[in-house]
Amino acid sequence: MADRKPKVVVTRKLPDPVEVRMRELFDTEFNAADRPMPADALAHAMTTAEVLVPTVTDRIGSDLIEHAGPQLKLIANFGAGVDHIDVKAAIGRGIIVTNTPGVLTEDTADIAMALILATARRVVEGADVVRAGGFAGWSPTWMMGVRLRGKKLGIVGMGRIGAALAHRARAFGLSIHYYNRRPVPVSVSGPLDAAYWDSLDQMLAHMDVVSVNCPHTPGTFHLLSARRLRLMQPHAILVNTARGEIVDEAELAAMLAEGRLAGVGLDVYEHEPTVNPRLLKLPGAVLLPHLGSATLETRVEMGEKVIINIKAFMDGHRPPDRVLLSML
Ligand code: 8YV
Repeated sequence: MADRKPKVVVTRKLPDPVEVRMRELFDTEFNAADRPMPADALAHAMTTAEVLVPTVTDRIGSDLIEHAGPQLKLIANFGAGVDHIDVKAAIGRGIIVTNTPGVLTEDTADIAMALILATARRVVEGADVVRAGGFAGWSPTWMMGVRLRGKKLGIVGMGRIGAALAHRARAFGLSIHYYNRRPVPVSVSGPLDAAYWDSLDQMLAHMDVVSVNCPHTPGTFHLLSARRLRLMQPHAILVNTARGEIVDEAELAAMLAEGRLAGVGLDVYEHEPTVNPRLLKLPGAVLLPHLGSATLETRVEMGEKVIINIKAFMDGHRPPDRVLLSML
């Protein structure tokens, strides 16, 4: 198997250095158009590829997996989140699924911190005023935000990205609180002086800033439900760089519109790429286009991870970033 070049289908345009290397190593078919692969092309790829390299913009449900050809052995996702893939159905068909964890941690945490800063200090709102020619001079009472130093940050999901955000937030004087299925080791929480909450409801009710950093799984869909969002304090800010589906976006928009939340910073949306139209009209919403991992360095490293996973698999080894059902 090792000497033969496997047939690899990549669903989206990847950074040039990644495409060059993949072309050298594999019999690779790329999607030259930088648009999500159409459903029929994706279904066709499932019948020709030995390895499929999808991204978050491909929906690989059980229907598609059912019709996969017997040659498809590996789905090497370009991205950490795998909620767009029916991993259970894939494993049931003997298809291995891998992802790219670790390499997007720091850049995604930067964007989470940027959203916290931008939301609390009205950075985008202010920039928009200037750009629209509306800056008429300094005023003692204009554009006042809230101070972050001394406030409480509640992290929902203290994984790699949550912890990386916590380190940044500490430097800005926020105290760290987190909710997780179980407490993280002291080696992680100790340096952060992080307080564990075993009740998400309780944590939400006491935080000034809440950041969503857990993966989207069947268990975390609408984890921040309408009921839970309503527990938050009206002066609080919510940011989400994980997945839109974890938060009830309609309720979030309603709460912001009605002044029951002070600010919202989102990089991800429940019905991506559609954004709730109410949010678009609210100055308290800082809205980014899913760019958490969008640096050249990270995107190249994600590609390298994809390549390592494919190589390991083709060489008969266990791919390092295999997704197991127990992780979901
Ligand atoms: C990726 C992401 O760029 O890795 C993830 O889970 O959300 C993004 O930052 C995207 O998923 C690429 O497929």
